[in-house]
Amino acid sequence: MYSFKNDYSEGCHPQILQLLSKYSLIQQKGYGEDDLSNKAKALIKQKIQSPNASIHFVSGGTQANIIVLAASLRPHESVVAARSGHICVHEAGAIEATGHKIEMVDTETGKLTPNHIQGIIDKFEDHHMTKPKMVYISNATELGTIYTKEELKNLYVFCKENKLYLYLDGARIGSALASRQNDISWEDLAQYTDVCYLGGTKNGALLGEAIVILHEDLKKDFLFHIKQRGALLAKGSLLGIQFYGLFSEDLFMSLARHANEMAYLMADSIQKKGYLMLTPVASNQIFPILPNDLIQKLLLDFDFYIWKKINAEQSAIRLVTSWATEEKFVRDFCNIIEGYDLM
Ligand SMILES: Cc1ncc(COP(=O)(O)O)c(C=O)c1O
Repeated sequence: MYSFKNDYSEGCHPQILQLLSKYSLIQQKGYGEDDLSNKAKALIKQKIQSPNASIHFVSGGTQANIIVLAASLRPHESVVAARSGHICVHEAGAIEATGHKIEMVDTETGKLTPNHIQGIIDKFEDHHMTKPKMVYISNATELGTIYTKEELKNLYVFCKENKLYLYLDGARIGSALASRQNDISWEDLAQYTDVCYLGGTKNGALLGEAIVILHEDLKKDFLFHIKQRGALLAKGSLLGIQFYGLFSEDLFMSLARHANEMAYLMADSIQKKGYLMLTPVASNQIFPILPNDLIQKLLLDFDFYIWKKINAEQSAIRLVTSWATEEKFVRDFCNIIEGYDLM
């Protein structure tokens, strides 16, 4: 049984494990103050061309979202997000538990536009209501779609005009930037967001996310927020070492490119057979709509989520590839699809 259920079924890339092993018995300063964490931060700042960015490593995505949102918002302020966004559907109310309301909007493809946000702003009247202050997007989105540079820039400009912070959850930023449709550069990412995080967990690290704060107002006392949420690891060097490994050569992007290529192989084979996709193919998550009996056949050898019932005969499934996905299994999967109605 081979899994296309997610992009965190494997441990980490061998180069990362080697680095962890190499530095394991070398004493490091605690709480992320070690040399390798500093070097990793310098590499990321260079990559995004933002020498003044403030960078912090944490262990997971929900943790990053909780800390960023709770640190950025005052008690009465809210965050706007797509209803399909990770903070709305898969974080067990973690954001609401910090006391902040999420203003959810329906979207077709998981992507927010200025129009969506305008709808929320228009509803805001006065101090009897929560005040929208931050916009949460993810790239790639929960539906595998990605933002274009123009879309990101428009959102950022709109946020500035309306005194909102723009926060980009980059749990899958590697896959988004490595997409064949992508036109956002690392520099753009820093230029058109106020804060974002770069996901290591789903892109070759054992675990870890790098929070990148760009807006001056959001930098102050951030370490206190990390500490108060129990996220300042004594062995923080373990996160720094992994990001050092991911960014010292081109490992981060080459792993993301592999994940995408595996997804494209599947998508091409599925589309060649005439099957449709629920959302456009762009990153390492794809959502083909297949006949239910083909899905049952595939489930005999492969694990994946059935995402959504389309009608009595068809459902959309979610296929996720990763930096570690083996092409052989992708080919086996495609062979079943390609041979389906020939039997
Ligand atoms: C976009 C996005 N944000 C955040 C997370 C949460 O990450 P974690 O499970 O590490 O808390 C995920 C995980 O799937 C995700 O896809």
